[in-house]
Amino acid sequence: MYGLLVENFSEYIKGEFGEDKWEEIRRHARIEQSDFSTHKVYNETLLPKLAKSAVELLGIPSEKLMFGMGTYFVEFVGQYGYDRVLSVLGRHVRDFLNGLDNLHEYLKFSYPRMKPPSFFCENESSTGMLLHYRSRRRGYAYYTMGQITQVAKYFYDCPLEMELLQEEFVFDTSHVTFQLTFDNRAFSNQVSLTLLREENVLPLKGNMLFEIFPFCILFSSTDYVSLFEYISYCDESLLSVHPHDAVPYIGDANVHHS
Ligand code: HEM
Repeated sequence: MYGLLVENFSEYIKGEFGEDKWEEIRRHARIEQSDFSTHKVYNETLLPKLAKSAVELLGIPSEKLMFGMGTYFVEFVGQYGYDRVLSVLGRHVRDFLNGLDNLHEYLKFSYPRMKPPSFFCENESSTGMLLHYRSRRRGYAYYTMGQITQVAKYFYDCPLEMELLQEEFVFDTSHVTFQLTFDNRAFSNQVSLTLLREENVLPLKGNMLFEIFPFCILFSSTDYVSLFEYISYCDESLLSVHPHDAVPYIGDANVHHS
């Protein structure tokens, strides 16, 4: 695992509980090293060891500790300029959540050996959604909850509640399902905009369609004009290939040669 997460943890402990507590936690975990580099890869067991030690010494539940680390994350990555990356992930919380996989994919340029988490949005409504979180690691569900809650608050000014519904492990992958409750009216607006676009006019002009499909026949019982225009055009195309046969195929339609 990259040092970014370990550094996030140590900074959180120092900021929240003081330097001395951090030193105590580190020694209690039997970790010799006191400084970590964000772009260096460390053993996967390092962070779980430190977290276990912190839970024992601070006397707080592991869920609360990991949530706090996740909340602190936004402030922490700010010092590396990543807050600017986070702020352009989309106009609404739903855009941000839908963009998390792309964000980590992009971060692979800077962290090529990373094993990124994956997120998937489902069952969206104007008041929230289901969020699936998949990872090759265990124990980061509450960290994720802290991150998302804080990003929603800090960048979108949007209070968001997250409930962990289910956590299961399939081979080496953990799959966590969260219910998110927040003002997701952006979803309903998106749906009505899409419907409106579908119901109103086609974004293509009729002529363009005829140019793309010059040799097909469109029948419409209601729209005489489009039928008329279409057959006029079709007739012309067919005539250029089969000058003598084209007209009889069109049958009784009111054909005008242009
Ligand atoms: C620009 C900001 C971000 C940066 C630079 C960043 C970078 C990273 C890095 C380097 C890792 C370690 C991966 C590895 O070592 O294999 C990681 C893991 C992770 N990231 Fe991000 N990340 C960012 C934003 C986010 C956000 C907003 C979320 C919100 C959910 C998130 C969720 C996670 C989780 C849950 C993990 C670790 C646990 C796991 O592997 O499942 N990250 N990220």
